[in-house]
Amino acid sequence: MAFSSSSESPIHVVILPFMAKGHTIPLLHLTHLFFLRRSNIAVTIFTTHANSQFIRQSLHDTKALIIELTFPQNFHPEIPQGVESVDKLPSQSLLVPFCKGTKNLQPEFDTILQSLRPNVSCLISDVFFPWSMEIAAKLNIPRLDFDGASNFAMVFYDILMTQEFPVDSDDELFSVIPSLPDIKLTKNDIEPEFSHPQPGEHTDFYTEVVMAMSKSKGIIRNSFYELEPEFVDYWNKEKSPKAWNIGPLCLLATKVVCSEEKPMCIQWLDEKLEKGESVLYVAFGSLAEMTMEQLREIAIGLENSGEHFLWVLRLPEPSTGDEFMSEFEERVKGRGLLVKNQWVDQVAILSHESVNGFMSHCGWNSVLESICESVPLLGFPITADQNLNARMVEEYFKIGVKVVTRNGSVRGFFSSKCIENKVKELMDIEGEKGKEMRKNVNKLNEKARNAMVEGGSSWRTLNLLIDEVICNKN
Ligand SMILES: *[C@@H]1O[C@H](CO)[C@@H](O)[C@H](O)[C@H]1NC(C)=O
Ligand SMILES: *[C@@H]1O[C@H](CO)[C@@H](O)[C@H](O)[C@H]1NC(C)=O
Repeated sequence: MAFSSSSESPIHVVILPFMAKGHTIPLLHLTHLFFLRRSNIAVTIFTTHANSQFIRQSLHDTKALIIELTFPQNFHPEIPQGVESVDKLPSQSLLVPFCKGTKNLQPEFDTILQSLRPNVSCLISDVFFPWSMEIAAKLNIPRLDFDGASNFAMVFYDILMTQEFPVDSDDELFSVIPSLPDIKLTKNDIEPEFSHPQPGEHTDFYTEVVMAMSKSKGIIRNSFYELEPEFVDYWNKEKSPKAWNIGPLCLLATKVVCSEEKPMCIQWLDEKLEKGESVLYVAFGSLAEMTMEQLREIAIGLENSGEHFLWVLRLPEPSTGDEFMSEFEERVKGRGLLVKNQWVDQVAILSHESVNGFMSHCGWNSVLESICESVPLLGFPITADQNLNARMVEEYFKIGVKVVTRNGSVRGFFSSKCIENKVKELMDIEGEKGKEMRKNVNKLNEKARNAMVEGGSSWRTLNLLIDEVICNKN
């Protein structure tokens, strides 16, 4: 690579994305952003063979270098050979063993990293690779963490894991910190592994993650200041390392424009638009695991709501419940479309004019994508930070509603009746609440776009990050 014509020394950013689409995609958008913002930048992405095709496709129009590491084999009895990403794990309970297995990538990664030219200016690593801290420290390269979550989620996790609250049960609401917006939480808003940590593999792994993070030069957050200002300020005042909010990165997503090869679900949405019918988009992410019993309740709730819907779903096992689902499909024909076990372009769906609501697990990427397409949400949280996200969608952003269990716990079973009612509430576009949610999501959408354009908060933060951390200018 020749940079001799440039008066400034070349910048070389190395990115190590985690093997899950939700973690990788924002970092691919960030790669595009680096090239847009600096002409004298080189970007190298490390991945593994099975994950490289997707990355190559996404970055085909850039000069990013993509390096394939050899994924370890047979490091865990329950992780089949050839599985190199979290979306393909037989069970999400294998997440921590999978993460620990990636440590086997370290020797090869370290060797190649040292040999790269121009010399590496900065390493951006997913938080799930705490081992990447070692080589960064050895070579004195600044490491930045990417955690894919919001500022409020990280603040709440930190508080819920380190402080005692005078509550009798995990479902009792309590106020968190007086200086923060008055959102009441329950211990059940985070996973029991975090609210009641036990000695073992899980706790050991997250301790390593936190240790590595504490030695990092900063955390890259896919969020923007105006979305959650109190939480950004709180983190950067009380916690470290510094959080750099440079998103929402989904605004970099390129929309598929070629009309001759429109996916079937987009064609279906086109038909709905022609008829003036409003559609609810339903999707719970590629990692979500749900029981057949819960899937049935969702189906019945959707059917009874009378709304039009596009449901992208992952069925737990190929055989169970097939009969119920095919009968259901038959009954809702014309009104509901099911897309099974297929990856879809979610941004393309959300940006479609006919889509007026999104029933979502409220993974952080999904919340951002919904905001960036001005679509209000029905939160149906399943795991990780999703309970917190769904709560904030309803109570802080006020851009949606969320499902509730019969006894009020954030965990448990969601009945078809509740789903039906919440779907109707979300899709009541002309109702008081429906109008309010749409007004609020439009406002956030405008703020998101303003943050990313020249001079906006995320634009300025990325400039500072490049100058202060990556180029080490002060
Ligand atoms: C690049 O790194 C190597 C090995 O760490 C070092 O010998 C060399 O001087 C560095 N080059 C520049 C231009 O800093
Ligand atoms: C609510 O029901 C769940 C089971 O679905 C139970 O585990 C939980 O303790 C209950 N919570 C309350 C507050 O009754």
